[in-house]
Amino acid sequence: MDSIGPVGLGSRDGPQGCPPEGLPHPSDSSKVVQKCLQQFMVTKAQLQQIQDSLLDSMEQALMGHSGPMPAVRMLPTYVGSTPHGTEQGDFVVLELGATGASMRVLWVTLTGTKGRRVQPRSQEFVIPPEVMLGPGQQLFDFAAHCLAEFLEALPVGNQCLPLGFNFSFPCHQTGLDRSTLISWTKGFRCSDVEGQDVVQLLREAIKRQGTSNLDVVAMVNDTVGTMMGCDPELGPCEIGLVVDTGTNACYMEEARHVAALDEDRGRVCVSIEWGSFGDDEVLGPLLTPFDRALDQESLNPGAQRFEKMIGGLYLGELVRLVLAHLARRGILFGGCTTPALLSQGSVTLEHVAEMEDPSTGAARVLAVLQNLGLRPGPSDVELIQHVCAAVSTRSARLCAAALAAVLSRLQHSREQHTLQIAVATGGQVFERHPRFHNVLQETVMLLAPECDISFIPSVDGGGQGVAMVTAVAARLAAHRHLVEETLAPFQLDQERLASVQVQMREAMAKGLRGEASSLSMLPSYVRATPDGSERGDFLALDLGGTNFRVLLVRVAAAGVKITSQVYAIPECVAQGSGQQLFDHIVDCIMDFQQRQGLGGQSLPLGFTFSFPCKQVGLDQGILLNWTKGFNASDCEGHDVVALLREAIGRRQAVELKVVAIVNDTVGTMMSCGYEDHRCEVGLIVGTGTNACYMEELQNVAGVPGDSGHMCINMEWGAFGDDGMLDVPITCFDASVDRESINPGKQRFEKLISGMYLGEIVRHILLHLNSLGVLFRGQQTQCLQTRDIFKTKFLSEIESDSLALRQVRAILEDLGLPLTSDDALVVREVCQAVSRRAAQLCGVGVAAVVEKIRENRSLEELTVTVGVDGTLYKLHPHFSSLVAATVRELAPRCAVTFLQSEDGSGKGAALVTAVACRLAQAAQV
Ligand code: G6P
Ligand code: BGC
Ligand code: BGC
Repeated sequence: MDSIGPVGLGSRDGPQGCPPEGLPHPSDSSKVVQKCLQQFMVTKAQLQQIQDSLLDSMEQALMGHSGPMPAVRMLPTYVGSTPHGTEQGDFVVLELGATGASMRVLWVTLTGTKGRRVQPRSQEFVIPPEVMLGPGQQLFDFAAHCLAEFLEALPVGNQCLPLGFNFSFPCHQTGLDRSTLISWTKGFRCSDVEGQDVVQLLREAIKRQGTSNLDVVAMVNDTVGTMMGCDPELGPCEIGLVVDTGTNACYMEEARHVAALDEDRGRVCVSIEWGSFGDDEVLGPLLTPFDRALDQESLNPGAQRFEKMIGGLYLGELVRLVLAHLARRGILFGGCTTPALLSQGSVTLEHVAEMEDPSTGAARVLAVLQNLGLRPGPSDVELIQHVCAAVSTRSARLCAAALAAVLSRLQHSREQHTLQIAVATGGQVFERHPRFHNVLQETVMLLAPECDISFIPSVDGGGQGVAMVTAVAARLAAHRHLVEETLAPFQLDQERLASVQVQMREAMAKGLRGEASSLSMLPSYVRATPDGSERGDFLALDLGGTNFRVLLVRVAAAGVKITSQVYAIPECVAQGSGQQLFDHIVDCIMDFQQRQGLGGQSLPLGFTFSFPCKQVGLDQGILLNWTKGFNASDCEGHDVVALLREAIGRRQAVELKVVAIVNDTVGTMMSCGYEDHRCEVGLIVGTGTNACYMEELQNVAGVPGDSGHMCINMEWGAFGDDGMLDVPITCFDASVDRESINPGKQRFEKLISGMYLGEIVRHILLHLNSLGVLFRGQQTQCLQTRDIFKTKFLSEIESDSLALRQVRAILEDLGLPLTSDDALVVREVCQAVSRRAAQLCGVGVAAVVEKIRENRSLEELTVTVGVDGTLYKLHPHFSSLVAATVRELAPRCAVTFLQSEDGSGKGAALVTAVACRLAQAAQV
């Protein structure tokens, strides 16, 4: 067989391209014909080999194991469910690429009621060849122009219409409306589009066109549109099969099998892109010289080999190449050829379909070939029909082998041997070719006898299906908008943060001057951080955080040794009477002493009391007001050291010398100061939040002395309680405050600390649930329960190492019926709430370190902040967001954050040790 290289009038071609010399002997010709057509025969074994090899390529690609040029791409389409017929509304669909050189615009109305379909209105536009091969912008401008022309004729008014973009080319999708073109196929080859987001390109073209009422919300592959357009009464279809100019299929795969997706539940539609199958020579033995010649003359040689054996764009060309070959061999048309016969694309799919028509085929052969300037003899007509049949039969059988591979994949992924499934079919080859569908069906039943398959032709080329996906996308886009709208107030820009910093500085200055301010700026009577000379055994209490702890702290030259015991403070005690609370505290101390064999020892005690106290001395602290979950009566306005001593007295406990009462921020600063002498700020971000720092004594009104330093407990939790906090208080914040035991108090704390973040998230989830965005709008009883959404969930849900499925597991444990999209939204809500908290906390730290820098008129300040608190320590991003905010708002301060290892109990013991050392020094 001589090569059928590039086509053109060879030397051997006479005036009409007829050969000068005699025709070949008839006996040879039938052998030549038989040998020629034999090449298109594909045996069952070869079909099974294709089935197995394609299945293997599909599974490799699903697991992400395929190399840079995968045989098939297995592209997730972000379509997670087959239609449930509830979608409704008017949608515009733009179809590009399925049917070759034409573009179609449709107006589809979904009624939302099963079985009631409204016939879509549509208009077809022929795409000029120079547009299919020219600059990408020209193609998209052409599309936008067609859309505008189509809409002009319709009563659109200024209704904004969701548009679904049916784009039939291989695309990497990262969302329903985010889709990057991998490579052109079929007759398209526009520049500057491959590697680009085609949805964005269309949006820009529509903008250039000035069509304002179109919102592109989804990009859908034609196979997906075909599958989704399947009549729910007959379906649902779970495979979409297109054989048009090109060919491809999609199907519903178990999401957990798609490595590219972080999903373990439900199904997702995957576009196989089987057109590129065989690029790695699997198809080699099946490729005829005609296939190779066709590939060589195609726009994309070496690519889409499988498609070029099946797709309608190529069937006519294959037939033409065979006819030209047989003509040259003198077997057809008396050995004559014509320029038309030798011209690429002169025989089309329509021609092949017509010539194969069982009733009118023969007549059509004459008409088609006469159009090519040929006069076929009677024997030619039959042979030509054989050629058409050989090419189209191979196409249908290869397509069947591919479909059988998909069926095998579904049997695997659903662990089902027998499969009952509906396949939606679409495309000109199905619609126009008389035998294609039957050959395909027969071959599939041969290759997958255990599968019960129903083929459901798509009614309108998938327009309805694309509208369905667009409806889902429009709903998701609307939800996205609602989520962004809901979370927008949580975004604090640089300018806002800087203005809060200024406000905090003003409040600090007023508080230090003893003027009315939401920042109490309470002197702690701690004047120095430890210098390492402290020694002795001390008892310490740590009340006010998540846990109440009693500690024995041994401070020695070798370091500090701590033994501690955690005790519960039941809510009824924290919110009971003050006497009950302090009696409970003393009971815990006595239990601890007993456990530690400290019977009879009267150790100095440091009391970390993490509530706002106006101190009049190191061991005198008047409780200003309870915060966090505490509300014991008869304590506010009282000296809590006295209350403790009274309780000790009531219990006849061994005389405990309460030497110091410190705030947990001060204890934390001291505890970290023992490790790092530059530590002059204490920060707590736990149940509550607060900070302290070493202020110049001269700046502290009401405390005698104007040299040296005094640690100031800022009580920044109350910042803004005077309404002077330039941060949008959302309705969710207002609900949390309203439902708290201290409404109107601790505003800043309620935006930042662990006691409240979970509640803020819960209220936002309830709101989004009520808008139908979350949990399909179903009322979720569990979310009505206060404190059910723990702040620790934020830390877990936002952890980078947690896959979406684990996020969903946390929420399902709460009894929330959620989808993966829901889990994504919940994570986003958590991120918005914790980010705001961390930024505001960063503003506070920036205000403090800038104050210290200015106090000391330093160009640069190097300082360490001692930190404690569950939220700060456990949240995956909180600490880095705080540090980032401080760097932006206090660029002249080099701030190190040192997490306290032993809590503030150690700090309280150190304060006590310092006090004892100073007291001894004073006695000497
Ligand atoms: C540590 C400190 C406590 C402090 C607490 C705050 O445990 O020792 O003094 O109150 O942190 O964090 P939390 O998350 O427990 O409220
Ligand atoms: C494209 C597919 C498309 C198929 C049928 C192929 O060339 O790569 O995305 O589904 O044609 O139109
Ligand atoms: C208290 C502070 C304490 C902070 C952190 C706030 O509610 O008012 O005194 O430092 O919580 O525990």
